[in-house]
Amino acid sequence: MADLDDLREGTDFTGAVARAGDFPLKGLAGQDWGMRARLSRVFDPADGKTVMLAFDHGYFQGPTSGLERLDRSIVPLVPQADALMCTRGALRTTIPATSGKGVVLRASGGPSVLGDLSQEDLAVSIDDAVRLDAAALAVQVFVGAENESRSVKNLTTLVDQGQAAGIPVLAVTAVGRDMVRDARYFRLATRITAELGAAFVKTYYVEEGFETVTSACPVPIIIAGGKKVEEREALRVASRAIQEGAAGVDMGRNVFQSEHPAAMLAAVRAVVHDGLTAEDAFDLYQQLSFERSEQLAR
Ligand code: 5RP
Repeated sequence: MADLDDLREGTDFTGAVARAGDFPLKGLAGQDWGMRARLSRVFDPADGKTVMLAFDHGYFQGPTSGLERLDRSIVPLVPQADALMCTRGALRTTIPATSGKGVVLRASGGPSVLGDLSQEDLAVSIDDAVRLDAAALAVQVFVGAENESRSVKNLTTLVDQGQAAGIPVLAVTAVGRDMVRDARYFRLATRITAELGAAFVKTYYVEEGFETVTSACPVPIIIAGGKKVEEREALRVASRAIQEGAAGVDMGRNVFQSEHPAAMLAAVRAVVHDGLTAEDAFDLYQQLSFERSEQLAR
């Protein structure tokens, strides 16, 4: 039985209404508590930024270079990421449930690289997302492509289900083969997905006018790393994106296809969270790569 001997009346009722604290993510302060708690497992609440490690490529590409064995290539990198973007198959089979990382669960799928990628449907139920403790759900949106409306329907269905369960949705702007990758297109695609309820949006960096994309989008934008390029170049793009208003990166190939993935991930973190310049981050990458090579040689 509860101890009823010393029930003390509260006395500290001075001051104005208690503040719950500001929420660091653009456009999301009005979301429900569960939604904000989950977003705080994707974005570091200290600076409102994220370094997501993306390794969901297998859902349409199979075992692409660097992802042949997720246990060997990805699991050692998990501690360095803020959040993980992956499929439920990868999560259940390979990622330790003890990692403590926010999981952005790939929730759309269907066609492979052999077909038309825009013919996707939703591929995860909200019940399974809850069971997997997903911090967010990711769905591809093909603005301007043949299956535009179908992919938008996937987004809005997922947003409805996510809002009901308190799970935010990441809209991934997928660029069709015929679309021009410029600021005008990305302003259109990112704004549409945010207006339709995405809590954050993934897009690509563009050299001209990227700040107009981030400025016109009412929720945080993160950039995909894109195809593998030289480390110095990938860090330059990450740095410019952050300077021009991105809230983080969701990087895959430029990490797991790097010769030194852990060093690369550390350098990306330094750009996103510590504001290192691309050149300083590249120096860090080289230094960490050298140390790693020395260790292996011993
Ligand atoms: C695949 C994705 C990837 O997660 C995304 O493109 C990030 O990976 P990368 O940095 O390799 O582009 O959404 O559909």
